[in-house]
Amino acid sequence: MNRFLILVVLVASIAVATAENSCVDCHKSVSAFKPEEMRFNEIRKEHLERGVSCSLECHEDLLSKLAKSNYIQWSSSKHAISGVTCDRCHGGNPETRDKEKAHTGVLRASDPASSIYYMNIPSTCGVCHEKELAEFTLSEHYKKLENVELAPTCSTCHLPHGFKIPETTNMAEICQNCHNGNIGADPEVPPKAQELLKESFELKSLINKMKAEGKDGENIKKAEQILDTFPVTWHEFNIERLEAEIDAVKSLLGVEEEAKSVPGFELSIIIAAFATVMLLRRFTK
Ligand code: HEC
Ligand code: HEC
Ligand code: HEC
Ligand code: HEC
Ligand code: HEC
Repeated sequence: MNRFLILVVLVASIAVATAENSCVDCHKSVSAFKPEEMRFNEIRKEHLERGVSCSLECHEDLLSKLAKSNYIQWSSSKHAISGVTCDRCHGGNPETRDKEKAHTGVLRASDPASSIYYMNIPSTCGVCHEKELAEFTLSEHYKKLENVELAPTCSTCHLPHGFKIPETTNMAEICQNCHNGNIGADPEVPPKAQELLKESFELKSLINKMKAEGKDGENIKKAEQILDTFPVTWHEFNIERLEAEIDAVKSLLGVEEEAKSVPGFELSIIIAAFATVMLLRRFTK
């Protein structure tokens, strides 16, 4: 399919999915641009009018950073394509064109009763993303969140309103916001997480390559299954588990393992020694 057709299909499907939704209709015209953003847009338009050809290219990055409009960001997200309209997360009444009536029940993010209050976000998203929520509730992050301590919620990593998936290029950066020497969450996490994500992508393309070469053995299928659920598995944020899954995929595919030191052996001796001491204490009581 050529790009134009894809665009037509996209626009058409957004139109179908969000027809008759007053939030979307009205917010399309509510400008969320700040004065400096509007000035910037004016300059860009002037450039375009004068035929300064590089203008869009030069400023595209800046533009995308500045275009903070909730609607604009949302409209190019998978949520827009799938008809997940504003009201699905914010509440309100999408059937009336009256602003006050439409906003009934739409609460500010700072209100603890709001569906988009920091702590309430996992359950708001979890209505549709049950599997991610289930894994997330097992995480250290969730425990901290429940105890009203610093921790990421869904929208910390999937920023509104693009709700994009972290990429190998920005993964470490996201984690480093907290996993750093100053704030104190384990600073070894970010590089490890970035590497794991990168490896999972590389192994996925390796599988595709193997399949294209006509290989489709049982091991390849098993490896593919593990990688298919990997994006969900992430949400427990258990690095050992993720490493074990990547190692399992590698061995299923016959990928050479890097030579590792064996901390497991020393650890098992320590555990055995500890267990012995505990046992002895029990018997001597
Ligand atoms: C008739 C136009 C209109 C409709 C319909 C509308 N909005 Fe709004 N909305 C606005 C405007 C304008 C603002 C900016 C603040 C203000 O003027 O109240 C706003 C603000 C908001 C805010 C920011 C929080 C706040 O209270 O200021 C949210 C969230 C929001 N709207 C969500 C929704 C949702 C969800 C719907 C549909 C159920 C909706 N809006 C329908 C025009 C509209
Ligand atoms: C998938 C869920 C989801 C959808 C769909 C969604 N939002 Fe949001 N929105 C959020 C979350 C979560 C926040 C809170 C972000 C934060 O606190 O960092 C938010 C914040 C906002 C805010 C700031 C509100 C405040 O009180 O600070 C506005 C305005 C807003 N959204 C408007 C919209 C509009 C308009 C749409 C539809 C075009 C929309 N949102 C669609 C989840 C969503
Ligand atoms: C009403 C259902 C619904 C709600 C609520 C919802 N989502 Fe989604 N979400 C979807 C659907 C449908 C998709 C598209 C699935 C697909 O294409 O595979 C999606 C896709 C995503 C993706 C993948 C985007 C991509 O580019 O691949 C992320 C990340 C995501 N949602 C995060 C969130 C977060 C965070 C929240 C809460 C703030 C949320 N969602 C709330 C239905 C929902
Ligand atoms: C600390 C960061 C972080 C938090 C918090 C987080 N996610 Fe994710 N999310 C990720 C990463 C990393 C991926 C996987 C990227 C990959 O493998 O492509 C992901 C992937 C996803 C996907 C796509 C899954 C798929 O099958 O493609 C969805 C949907 C999603 N997250 C929803 C959520 C929801 C809902 C929450 C809250 C309950 C949440 N995320 C919390 C980092 C986070
Ligand atoms: C908003 C802050 C914040 C962000 C962002 C964040 N974390 Fe965390 N994370 C924490 C806190 C707080 C803990 C609790 C444990 C601690 O104090 O070390 C934690 C614990 C963890 C743990 C388990 C224990 C450990 O220290 O090894 C892992 C794994 C983890 N995070 C992975 C990630 C990954 C991967 C990302 C990025 C995708 C991320 N985190 C982003 C705050 C954050």
